[in-house]
Amino acid sequence: MVNCLIVGHGAREHVIGESLVQSGANLFAFMSFKNAGLEDLSKGKIKIHSETDFKEIIEFAKDKKIDFAVIGPEAPLCVGIVDALEKSNIPCIGPKIEAAQLEGSKIFTRNLLRKYKIPSNIESESFNSMDGLKSYIKDLGKENIVVKPDGLTGGKGVKVYGDHLFSIQDILDYCQEIIDQKSPFILEEKCNGEEFTLQTFVDGTNVIRTPLVQDHKRAYENDEGPNTGGMGSYSMEDHLMPFIDKNDVEMALEDMTKVVAAVKAETGVEYKGFLYGQYMKTSKGIKLIEFNARFGDPEAMNVLPLLKSNFVDICQGIIDGKLTNNVEFEKKATVCKYLAPEGYPVSPKKDELVKIDVNKMEKIGAKYYYASVYRDNDKIYTTTSRAIGVLGIAENLEKAEKIAEQGVSCVEGKLFHRKDVGTQQLLQKRIEHMNSILKK
Ligand code: AMP
Ligand code: GLY
Repeated sequence: MVNCLIVGHGAREHVIGESLVQSGANLFAFMSFKNAGLEDLSKGKIKIHSETDFKEIIEFAKDKKIDFAVIGPEAPLCVGIVDALEKSNIPCIGPKIEAAQLEGSKIFTRNLLRKYKIPSNIESESFNSMDGLKSYIKDLGKENIVVKPDGLTGGKGVKVYGDHLFSIQDILDYCQEIIDQKSPFILEEKCNGEEFTLQTFVDGTNVIRTPLVQDHKRAYENDEGPNTGGMGSYSMEDHLMPFIDKNDVEMALEDMTKVVAAVKAETGVEYKGFLYGQYMKTSKGIKLIEFNARFGDPEAMNVLPLLKSNFVDICQGIIDGKLTNNVEFEKKATVCKYLAPEGYPVSPKKDELVKIDVNKMEKIGAKYYYASVYRDNDKIYTTTSRAIGVLGIAENLEKAEKIAEQGVSCVEGKLFHRKDVGTQQLLQKRIEHMNSILKK
């Protein structure tokens, strides 16, 4: 049996752990907060400690004779967990610190894309003071501006003109706020179109795709309210989107392959692990919004449960640099709905009881994954972030959405979710939006 260590504590790590176990792994988990799902899957072979304390992780991995570690979240990747573990001869699924800059630094990424003439790049400029800001805003036009702090912000640092910023003063005020936090930042061109997530397995050279997913960042129905880590996501049985065709995916995949080669050329380090590309289809083609050096949360829940190939073998292929194109997924649709504490993300109600009717959930055929909740005396409680991811899988989107909704009704507590995720109505809106942009 292969001893696999998962580092991380959320729903993404729960589904990664499930896939490893289903592929025959003997699972261990190292997490800063106890995930009840990972505790069960690993049969209690866990350690609760900071996910960036490499010394402790190495000690735990050596003691448990770990064959390889899968790193779930971005925080340990961006401070060099893979470099540290590999120095101690523990192979990892995840990029080394230099390659993880694709997520850790938006300035690094935009510079790389510009230097290597990657087609999906857009206009951008980096700043660390107010110098030159006004003239750049004038050149690009205020209504075309997006402001992004350089580093990790948990999906909550990006502000877009028209969504969060409504005047030049708003833009300048937000830039000043970032400067006050001593962070560099970029201003980039605002794109219009439909977003999609392309998650891939990367072995240093080869980039192998998984089914496309669309996430829902806004907290409330109809894409209203503040940005969140993602309130839910869906994927289609043909692994595309009704508004993103095979050609588009091939272009995005080619783009990611070029980026992986550019990382090697620029840093001398091979990109290995999962690479998440968030793209937007616009009237000017496929444009890169951001990269993540990991699987998405919730998007991991849309793709890993569909995997027909052995996940442990895929991980081994990443480590050995021998990934092949024969990774297979079930031709099914998925809908994932996140239940979040009432008030999330502004003033979430924590320490509230969450009751899951497991038998009913099983009868319905829905799956569920623990996110930011804790178990105490066999009872589950909320914290301040997303609580439970509920997943429906079926031969088409309509059925998958129904299963997800029925699954949600098996969870009781002071929680809310977006009923519109994965509905035909929202899908139609996306299709019409895309059509209107392409017609212009
Ligand atoms: P990010 O954290 O980079 O994924 O950004 C959060 C959200 O902001 C994205 O999902 C997009 O909806 C939006 N966004 C980011 N960059 C751009 C851009 N250049 N143009 C338009 N929207 C953007
Ligand atoms: N769902 C977006 C992310 O994982 O960053």
